[in-house]
This record gives sequence, C-alpha cells and structure tokens, in this order.
Amino acid sequence: MNIIVSKNKEELAEKAALTVKELVSKNPKATLGLATGSSPLELYAHLASYCREGLSFSEVKSFNLDEYIACPIVEQTYAYFMKENLFSKIDIRLENTHFPNQKDPEAYDAEIEEAGGVDLQILGIGRNGHIGFNEPGTSHDSKTHIIDLTESTRSANARFFRNDIDLVPTQAVSMGLSTIMKARKIVLIANDVTKAEPIAALLMKKKTLDVPATVLLDHPDCDVFLTEDVYEAAKKLVEASHD
Ligand code: GLP
Repeated sequence: MNIIVSKNKEELAEKAALTVKELVSKNPKATLGLATGSSPLELYAHLASYCREGLSFSEVKSFNLDEYIACPIVEQTYAYFMKENLFSKIDIRLENTHFPNQKDPEAYDAEIEEAGGVDLQILGIGRNGHIGFNEPGTSHDSKTHIIDLTESTRSANARFFRNDIDLVPTQAVSMGLSTIMKARKIVLIANDVTKAEPIAALLMKKKTLDVPATVLLDHPDCDVFLTEDVYEAAKKLVEASHD
C-alpha cells in the first residue's frame, strides 16, 4: 500500500486524476470502478477537463461500486450523481456504464468478469471504514450483495437527504470486498478529517473485519491519497493507541 500525502484537496485530486489519465491514455478501452460521495468529486472535475482537452472516454467501461435501494429522492441515487458529476461531462457512452442491481446482485460480479475485470477502482472511505457500502463486519469473501446500512452511515449521509435521517435509505446494494479486491489497481481517497479513524487503522497495518478498508492491506497495487490534515490526525490516533 502506498500512502501519498497532499497539501490539500485540490493537490490530491490532481495527483489522483493523473493516475486515471495515465491509464486511459495508455488503454482507451480501460474499465474503471467508480465511487460516489464527496471524496472523488474534484477528481471527476479533472477528468471532465481532460476530456475537454481531448482525452476520450468513448470506449471506457465503468462499474459503480454501489447504489441505494428504494431511494426516496431521485437526485440522491448514485446513478443520478454519476450523470450529474461525471457522465454528462465526459464522452463515456451511457450503455457502457453499470450499476449493481438489487434483483440479482451476484450477476454484477459475473458482468465485471466478462468485461475483463476492473483496471482501476476509485474508492472513498466511510467514517466507520466502509468501502462501497461494505459496513463493518462484512466478510472479506463477499461478492456484490444487499446490505443494511448502519446508523452511523445513515446519519453521515443524512446531509444529502434534507438532514432528515428518516429519508435516508436503510439498504443498499454494493460490490463486495472480494469484488473490490479483484481490481488490478486501487486508488483510495480520504480528504476529510472525519476519516482519520479508519485511516489510522490502515496506518496500523492490522487487517480487521471491524474496519472493512483494512482488507486493502493485502492488495498488491493500492494507492491511498490523503490530505495532510487527514494524515496528521490519523498519525496522532496511531501514537495515542501506543500510549
Ligand atoms: C458513502 C458511499 C461510499 C463513499 C463513502 C464516503 O456512503 N457509499 O462509496 O466512499 O460513503 O462518502 P464521502 O466521500 O461523501 O465522505
């Protein structure tokens, strides 16, 4: 696992976006694993500007990590988020974009395999260490599955649902941890200090079901992009744990 520390969100997004640019320039038919949430937003803005400058995504395929089940606000579905923040701003073909389906979740793993696997998976991280929507306790062998969202995740996401936790869906369908681990390269972004705790768990290099992201410690090619404030806060937590 490589830890890459940037001064701020902007610098982080630029560095992470270059990883994607490099891949798509070399392999215009690359398959990207995509994440939603605030973490990758600036990175997506960079991809849009690369596209305006001539980088084509017309043959790129994408597989999103997760989607809410029974989301009462259409603008908060992840399909909507992706159209709004990326797909409408690059020349990717919508038929090449994919989301997991609650009717047959495991079919998603087969679909990804048929497409040749994910070349680069972008990840954010939840405050409780979830990746995708794999909440603490999720098996490392999990494939795409339906998951009950924890109170902590629902309250963290209430800000997108008029600050009303009752509007936040209670379930989601998410790539499993084994699905994510199959990606050939992983880029994880943590650019907000609320992520210091799970990042501290990564720095401690101890794989635990309690912090799903620690499964990434076993990945052969995983870049963790951190802003300086997240890194410093996580380091303090690691030091405190030694006291
Ligand atoms: C959400 C998503 C994750 C995302 C995470 C962090 O619930 N399911 O894929 O990485 O939580 O979100 P954010 O980047 O907004 O902090």
